[in-house]
Amino acid sequence: MRLARDGRTVLDGAQLRVPPGEVTALIAPSGAGKSSLLRCVVRLLAPDAGAISLDGVPVADLDPRALRRRVGLVAQTPVMLPGTVRNNLAYGLDAPLSSAAAHDALRAAGLDATFHDRDAHALSGGERARVAIARALVRRPEALLLDEPTAALDHDVALLVVDALRALADGGLAVCLATHDLPLARRVADRCVALDGSAA
Ligand SMILES: Nc1ncnc2c1ncn2[C@@H]1O[C@H](COP(=O)(O)OP(=O)(O)OP(=O)(O)O)[C@@H](O)[C@H]1O
Ligand SMILES: [Mg+2]
Repeated sequence: MRLARDGRTVLDGAQLRVPPGEVTALIAPSGAGKSSLLRCVVRLLAPDAGAISLDGVPVADLDPRALRRRVGLVAQTPVMLPGTVRNNLAYGLDAPLSSAAAHDALRAAGLDATFHDRDAHALSGGERARVAIARALVRRPEALLLDEPTAALDHDVALLVVDALRALADGGLAVCLATHDLPLARRVADRCVALDGSAA
């Protein structure tokens, strides 16, 4: 895959495969194009050349909203909407969100049920990072792409989050984790890959 931004080549020959039931860690230095690649997968950016497919279907042929329901992207700096954590989890869902589903998603992201009614804007950076993961999970995606989800977390909480991601993959989810943190990636991932798809 090839991508230029503002006339500068950002990605050239990028390759990534994210199988279900596995954690794939995408390891590359700052500025190498990890966020750009993940944004291409959910069509927030369009590559200049190359193909991206979901279950064999080119993402360019999928409706972007339908694509983003199937592939959750947890952004590098997640934005919290005004209101409670629950409001944030329920935002934009087609059906009402049950408390049980909200609690399950919070737990899977390493937060307890007391966060449900907290003001989202009063959370720490690390708590926001985990709410963003829970917000992706309530959408029941087939694949979850996480852009540096542990960057704002201390080591213990980062371990909690990656262990939660491991459990989600063991349940069948395709998980892709973009990070600079190779030791953390090695702990959780089935494969650590560079942007060209080679082993990292
Ligand atoms: N909005 C933008 N417009 C133009 N160029 C951009 C934009 N965002 C990022 N870039 C450039 O694209 C390249 C790749 O950036 P990207 O954010 O994808 O890297 P990254 O690997 O995610 O880095 P980091 O680890 O710091 O998050 C960088 O050279 C960056 O300057
Ligand atoms: Mg990035």
